[in-house]
Amino acid sequence: MNILHVISSPRSESYSIRLGNGIIEKLQMANPGSTVQVRNVAIHPFPHLEEVHIQSFHTSPESRTPKQRMAVQHSDMVIRELQAADTIVIGAPLYNFGIPSTLKAWIDHVVRARVTFRYTASGMEGLLTGKKVYLAVSSGGIYSEGPWADKDFVVPYLKAVLAGIGLTNVTVLRVEGTSMPGVQDQALSKALSCISL
Ligand SMILES: Cc1cc2nc3c(=O)[nH]c(=O)nc-3n(C[C@H](O)[C@H](O)[C@H](O)COP(=O)(O)O)c2cc1C
Repeated sequence: MNILHVISSPRSESYSIRLGNGIIEKLQMANPGSTVQVRNVAIHPFPHLEEVHIQSFHTSPESRTPKQRMAVQHSDMVIRELQAADTIVIGAPLYNFGIPSTLKAWIDHVVRARVTFRYTASGMEGLLTGKKVYLAVSSGGIYSEGPWADKDFVVPYLKAVLAGIGLTNVTVLRVEGTSMPGVQDQALSKALSCISL
């Protein structure tokens, strides 16, 4: 099994990274010999899309200018990583009710017409099929239930955008309440105990 671990927390003590690592440990126990590729978008952020990136996406490889060829390299690289992976673990801290902008920038390089999805008469058809995704979502508050449940835009957004490129087999694991006294101490062990593959 080839596992891709996408990390987007910049914190060394990150809950989402530790939860992602917990998922990967279990995957490796169940699939000895698995490889792990780490893509840390917090340490190596992807550029926000500029005109040259969008032009490069819409230009055939043989017609790209040297600038466009440079610009498309980030996207080609991350798409190759996704294509090579059987299982993708995405760490997503909740930032201001959404995902970190670094993870959004990665997504903007991954979701590419004619490469990871195509338009058909019935809409968007994802081209990255047959892969398993685990989301390791961390949040200071609690969103799986209670008064803030309808404020979680992270899981619905990630599920929608991943489905658009064919990644429909998604399991969500949450380490939540990481800022809440009385909850934070047990938050990680509770999340780790919920991992079932
Ligand atoms: C910039 C920033 C924005 C945040 N926004 C929210 C938020 O909207 N809701 C929430 O529950 N927690 C929020 N938090 C808390 C984080 O979700 C929490 O600390 C989480 O554990 C961070 O993930 P990490 O431990 O993987 O770094 C925010 C934290 C930061 C640094």
